[in-house]
Amino acid sequence: MVIASGSDAGPVTSTETDAVTAERVAHQLSLLSAWFPDPPARILDVGCGTGELAAALGRQGYEVTAIDIDAGAIEAAQRIGVRAACADIAVFDAPLFDVVIFSLSLHHVDALDSAVAQSSRLLDPSGVLIVDEFAWDRADRTTAEWFYDTAAVLDAAGVLRTAGERPPRPDPLAHWVDHHSEHHMHPGLAMLDAIGGVFDIQEQHRVPYLYRYLGGWLASEAVGASLFATLRQIETMRIQDGRLQPTGLRLRARAASGRGGRRRAGSP
Ligand SMILES: C[S@@+](CC[C@H](N)C(=O)[O-])C[C@H]1O[C@@H](n2cnc3c(N)ncnc32)[C@H](O)[C@@H]1O
Repeated sequence: MVIASGSDAGPVTSTETDAVTAERVAHQLSLLSAWFPDPPARILDVGCGTGELAAALGRQGYEVTAIDIDAGAIEAAQRIGVRAACADIAVFDAPLFDVVIFSLSLHHVDALDSAVAQSSRLLDPSGVLIVDEFAWDRADRTTAEWFYDTAAVLDAAGVLRTAGERPPRPDPLAHWVDHHSEHHMHPGLAMLDAIGGVFDIQEQHRVPYLYRYLGGWLASEAVGASLFATLRQIETMRIQDGRLQPTGLRLRARAASGRGGRRRAGSP
């Protein structure tokens, strides 16, 4: 596959994007596309991981800069042709962007308030903040139970990348809360508080997320993309009929004037 992204390295040939990841990114972009300005716009992908979203945005004609605090992730992103730098969003500085996007990264940053404030400074006054996140605090017992039971079945079927490590949990909600707290993942409410302190949140949606969580564990070579799509269908249906809680949080926000943004050089 030839990837031509907004990259200093130029187009590269890569076979690294597996079927599940390709499906995950394509579906994510289909959900978010209405929130992006037309290309070419300047996008900062914060916590880009191995860079597949940034690469896909680059292929659409955007000028993408990607950052991550993990040097190994940045090397992987660069290998697929992404212009990527190892940096902590809390202190990252650069010329202004039209879009700052956090895809499953904001709940991981150590300094949440600083990360959000710095994002505001990095955005053009007319720019948009897009957050596509995991709000683990929304899960109830049934939701946690569905997650761990499904993971255990997939594990027993041998289709997860790390087999034998996903047992069913006798007290799924307690395990869920302990696990995400112990790994210092910010809950959705904390992210909303931090963002709302600096930005005007213009739209927010509670959406399915567990299929993405499980999808990240799928051994793509064993399952292809159809199992990922089936997990998404099941979770979506169960949320619609009220059985599962949506643990995804998707929002767009604009810089609130006078609350921490940075003006373009030469503007009054
Ligand atoms: C779950 S991964 C998400 C990767 C990718 N954005 C995606 O949607 O699949 C979270 C990423 O955020 C990065 N991260 C955590 N704290 C960060 C920080 N302060 N600045 C930049 N990246 C950070 C991690 O290193 C990790 O690669």
